[in-house]
Amino acid sequence: MVLPHALPLVPTPVSATPGEGRLPITATTRVHGTSPAVAQLLDAVERRTGISLATTPERPAEIELRVDPDAEDAESYTLMIGERAVVTGADEAGLFYGVQTLLQLLREDESGWGLLCADIADAPRFARRGVMLDVARHFFGVDDVKRFIDRTSALKYNHLHLHLSDDQGWRVHIDSWPLLTERAATTSANGDPGGFYTQDDYREIVAHAASRHMIVIPEIDLPGHTHAIGVAYPELVEAPVMNDTLITESERLGQPLPVAGEPYLGWGVGHSSVRIRSERTYEFVRDVVRELAALTPGPYIHVGGDESLGTPQADFDHFAERVTAIVVEEGKTPVAWHEMGSAAGIAEGTVGQYWGKTTPQGSHAEEAAHFAERGGALIMSAADVTYLDMKYTADFPLGLTWAAIIDVRSAYEWEPTAVLDVPDAAILGVEAPMWTETTRTLGEVEQLVFPRAAAQAEIAWSPREGAERSWESFRVRVGSLAPLWKAEGVEFHPSAEIPWSAR
Ligand code: ACM
Repeated sequence: MVLPHALPLVPTPVSATPGEGRLPITATTRVHGTSPAVAQLLDAVERRTGISLATTPERPAEIELRVDPDAEDAESYTLMIGERAVVTGADEAGLFYGVQTLLQLLREDESGWGLLCADIADAPRFARRGVMLDVARHFFGVDDVKRFIDRTSALKYNHLHLHLSDDQGWRVHIDSWPLLTERAATTSANGDPGGFYTQDDYREIVAHAASRHMIVIPEIDLPGHTHAIGVAYPELVEAPVMNDTLITESERLGQPLPVAGEPYLGWGVGHSSVRIRSERTYEFVRDVVRELAALTPGPYIHVGGDESLGTPQADFDHFAERVTAIVVEEGKTPVAWHEMGSAAGIAEGTVGQYWGKTTPQGSHAEEAAHFAERGGALIMSAADVTYLDMKYTADFPLGLTWAAIIDVRSAYEWEPTAVLDVPDAAILGVEAPMWTETTRTLGEVEQLVFPRAAAQAEIAWSPREGAERSWESFRVRVGSLAPLWKAEGVEFHPSAEIPWSAR
């Protein structure tokens, strides 16, 4: 049911009661608070309205931001807008999310700018709300990644998974293996320009993410998706192993097949592997994991595990057990794509990332369930609903179709606890991956990400049974984000499924 006066909020809050009227926002509106969220609010209001709000050390002020040390639920907040606006976070993250909600209630009408009156109490359903950006197929520089962080954290995402290596390129400098970025980072898919992050660049991304309450999860994809490693260090990888799909798809797309030691410019998968029975491989893996762990304050290192199509199963399982053990020894929690669940002895506590379909095929569900059996848990990235790189319609100019064609409604209508046969408590949350084979610019990325990232944000944040948790409500509420996205320059796809509002 759509309440006629539903507030224009995505993700929809736990409880939200609309009030009467608006709190005007003008150049005399003052903000009180000591949190970094104050400056973030001032900047956002100015970008949106051109109004520079003043801060004041005095109370009461028209807008107050505070953290309540007695509040219990992490990331929760309350927001009351009446004669004044008061945002109270249980912690700094909760306050940040309350400010994002407040910004969605900032609207312009005939009388000028104002905040819609409301009484809101809110907290996330899942602790894990992630997006992934593939910076390997195409490289995106520090400023692009910061913009991606700003726009996804505004939807209350709190994890950024960076896919830092693949067949097409290696994107983060590793001091102990310097040829990775010297030799294997210069190109992207289709022969487009590449790039890489220096360790200072990476630290800058991590710090910016932290300022928006996002944890960075770095991924080095292993043992497959490793052709680029062989461009830098040929002794670490096997010769490419072709598969039928790779050959026919490469021919259809006019892409070259992989050649050992040369940059790979196509986007076929499954042909590469590190040398699993060579001890030098594990020296390499340990050095990379150690350097990444030192650079990464978050608890996770993602070690890949997908699509090792040319690797014998026993070798793959051996590698999965060793690589997850190395991550634990280096002080982090391993994360892996669900295929690594085939290995009986993956490190206890390893987190699996399920990227099969909403109706699991083959051994995918079993592999995923093994993470829970080993004391780990799961991130749900069902490819036929969460993959942001799939086309919206068959004729959409960007994106791929192998998992599904995903319109906004299909992206919205799924339930992360209903896919696998594991206890609900084993589901940490949702991650929406953005693979970048077909996208060269951040604007192209945004066309695929928005509005569908808003759908996954609501699935991850909002209660399953909320009054507004329906497609009919969501499509109107997501349409109400258009003025915010336009003001921020977000190149969202104006899907015909959504009634986009003008202000
Ligand atoms: C994947 O899409 N290969 C994880």
